[in-house]
Amino acid sequence: MMRSSESTQRNHRSRAEGPQRPLAHGRWLTQVFARSVAELSAIDTRVLLQQIIGVDPRISSIEPTPAQIKKYKSFLVRRAAGEPVAYIIGSREFYGRDFKVSSATLIPRPDSETLIDAAKELLSPDFNGRIVDLGTGSGALLLTLSKEFPHSTGTGIDISKAALRIARANAKSLGVKSTFKFADMRDFTVAKKFDLVIANPPYIKSSDIKKLQTDVKDFEPKAALDGGRDGYDFYRAIAKLDILKPQGIILLEIGAGQASRIEKIFVGANYKLIKSFKDLAGITRVLAFKL
Ligand SMILES: C[S@@+](CC[C@H](N)C(=O)[O-])C[C@H]1O[C@@H](n2cnc3c(N)ncnc32)[C@H](O)[C@@H]1O
Repeated sequence: MMRSSESTQRNHRSRAEGPQRPLAHGRWLTQVFARSVAELSAIDTRVLLQQIIGVDPRISSIEPTPAQIKKYKSFLVRRAAGEPVAYIIGSREFYGRDFKVSSATLIPRPDSETLIDAAKELLSPDFNGRIVDLGTGSGALLLTLSKEFPHSTGTGIDISKAALRIARANAKSLGVKSTFKFADMRDFTVAKKFDLVIANPPYIKSSDIKKLQTDVKDFEPKAALDGGRDGYDFYRAIAKLDILKPQGIILLEIGAGQASRIEKIFVGANYKLIKSFKDLAGITRVLAFKL
């Protein structure tokens, strides 16, 4: 009796919920798994959940609250639509430190750590010169150098006011006294020249932007990517600037396959190549020049 009654109740419940549950579930599937849940990597889903519950879910037995689950679902919807994890959680680690990021800033890339390693190879640890970062974005490069060379003084410029706000917030949370200014790197002039000029300028050919992955082309700021018709607009402009002290060094991040053309641009502007540096994938990623 009991069994049959239980079973009847269960059947009733499932019939009663029948028209609703598949619908709600269906909506969930349509939204969250629009690009198939299989495309969301285990690491992405873990990082998103960790952001919400505050601990690594692999070592936690905490039951998320309904509000946390709701938030987690909204994060998954955003990730499934292609939004990078860094924008969803609002931060990205770079050279061992956390940087705030937003849709106004490029997400700092591991490849860019090559530029930090290059600076550490070329400069003494007590370097106390003036550094300028052209197109500073989140400030990741400049602020990392400011931490690695604590006696240096840093200035970051960008054409995005929203990015500059993020860079200032990062400087504050890292306890770095850098200055951030709104300026166009293509006609940047200074009264006092710099000992170290660094730049990771936009270097993608305009016509190649549409070929980039969704995460990049639909979410990262176009102003951070678009290097003009052939991708070299910003390098030509930087080569013409008069902002480097005679004994100074310029460190440039470059795109894959751009090294020889950029070397020509800078040698044509009376710079000498000091050294090129490869990233972990073996791609020439940073060029160092002096006058
Ligand atoms: C490739 S992102 C690099 C951001 C950051 N330095 C990094 O490595 O993560 C290029 C940056 O240059 C900035 N930018 C683009 N055009 C600029 C211009 N004409 N003058 C100054 N900054 C510019 C963009 O807003 C963006 O922040």
